[in-house]
Amino acid sequence: MEKPDKPRIIELPRIYDPRGSLTFTENGDGRIPFDIQRAYWIYDVPAGETRGGHSHKLLHQFLIAVNGSFNVNVYDGTEWTHWMLNMPCKGLYIPPGCWRTLDSFASRSVCMALASLPYDEDEYIRDYDEYLRSLS
Ligand code: TYD
Repeated sequence: MEKPDKPRIIELPRIYDPRGSLTFTENGDGRIPFDIQRAYWIYDVPAGETRGGHSHKLLHQFLIAVNGSFNVNVYDGTEWTHWMLNMPCKGLYIPPGCWRTLDSFASRSVCMALASLPYDEDEYIRDYDEYLRSLS
């Protein structure tokens, strides 16, 4: 049986030159393990606020701190892992079936999310007990 994928940090190319840095990705480049159908970004998060607090039945996501820093806490059905994202050239891949929260946003931070599907509220699990039941 195929082993379920795990959340993990993926590094993207960074092109340095005297004008600054540039990072990119595109479908099929072999870095992000899904085709991107949607992007959204979270910003102006007040100090102390938590985002996320849900799981996805089908959605693959890749989160990048395009500015500032924040923490991502992920339960993959087996264990919790905590990451601090603070680099625009490194992001966190989160496969379907993981519960996640985002917190500790530094002022002016921006979380960009690349997603494998269009927005569909029916594919979210927003209740933690329901999420735990979905694992068994
Ligand atoms: P929500 O899922 O609560 O944000 P978080 O990532 O912090 O859990 O989304 C906030 C609102 O935005 C909610 O009404 C759904 C809506 N939304 C869209 O309409 N399209 C999207 O692509 C996303 C991610 C959210």
